[in-house]
Amino acid sequence: ELQERESLIITNDFARAYYQEQLTQSEEGKSIGLSYFKQRGFRKETLETFGLGYAPMQRDGLLKAATAAGYKEEQLEKLGLVRNGRDFFFDRVMFTIHNVAGKPIAFAGRILKKNVKAPKYINSPETEVYHKSDVLYGMYQARQTVRKLDLVYMVEGYTDVISLHQNGIKNVVATSGTSLTSGQAQLVKRFTENVTLLYDGDKAGIKAALRGVDVLLTNDLNVRVVVLPDGHDPDSYLQEVGTTAFETHLQTTAQDFLFFKADLLLEEAKDDVGQRTEAIRDIGSTLALVTDPLKRAGYLQQFSARLGLEESLLVNLVNKAIGDRR
Ligand code: UTP
Ligand code: MN
Ligand code: MN
Ligand code: MN
Ligand code: MN
Repeated sequence: ELQERESLIITNDFARAYYQEQLTQSEEGKSIGLSYFKQRGFRKETLETFGLGYAPMQRDGLLKAATAAGYKEEQLEKLGLVRNGRDFFFDRVMFTIHNVAGKPIAFAGRILKKNVKAPKYINSPETEVYHKSDVLYGMYQARQTVRKLDLVYMVEGYTDVISLHQNGIKNVVATSGTSLTSGQAQLVKRFTENVTLLYDGDKAGIKAALRGVDVLLTNDLNVRVVVLPDGHDPDSYLQEVGTTAFETHLQTTAQDFLFFKADLLLEEAKDDVGQRTEAIRDIGSTLALVTDPLKRAGYLQQFSARLGLEESLLVNLVNKAIGDRR
């Protein structure tokens, strides 16, 4: 079992080296892949830190190279690298997904051509070494800084992680566009209890922030939110305003998630009593997820002040929400 996992990781490591070699040594890789990464501002060192590579147009380049080096096609299939005698990743720039120990457990490939119907990113399937729901992209590269600063930024995309890291914000990981899981919350907890969500400034990004948070609160993490200007993701915003202004934005606009959510809901409700009541109930049920009684009491106090409601009223609401969940 352990041996099988090790051998899968060794095979993945061959693929990682192959994609990297294609990027830096082959004419095709240099003229297409390397120039793409350069145009995005990624430096050579960054390409190495994140194991970025290139999967050539040839439909069986990896399969041929790997089998020639003695790797079994069956292993490549198990890893989702090969299907029906053909490479799964081709004609894409490649992102290596590492576990916290720095081993390559999966890959993502980004399409380069515009206006084609294929998905922008394709990702390795679930395998014996890649359980998506337990992985946060970039945690290996982020972990020391996360510990040191006792804070992790969570972004949506691979390139957000890479771009921020390269510009000195190294405590950043990506959810890779999916909702957060308990496994990911537990992973974060090994390094810090403080999470700042840094999602795209569009409706989808804000919705993702709202959705993701229950699982973080349930796992006793402290959650803050930074909203980016509409139409930006962390990478594009950083590129536009520069690192200093970007960091200032983080520091000046980060707010506690519970207050962020409350403001959002109450703003939507305006003066409508029904909607306002609904919003308060919603806030109450989120508050019920905070298990630390001291922390919860702190929130209750602040909310009652903000909402102009008797604290006991809120306490009852939260207690009822806790009861309903049991
Ligand atoms: P985005 O569409 O915001 O991509 O998806 P991005 O990270 O900003 O990439 P660039 O800057 O266009 O290159 C956010 C994340 O959602 C996942 C990926 O993890 C991506 O980084 N995603 C997105 C997919 O898995 N598949 C897709 O087709 C699109
Ligand atoms: Mn988006
Ligand atoms: Mn604790
Ligand atoms: Mn982007
Ligand atoms: Mn994006």
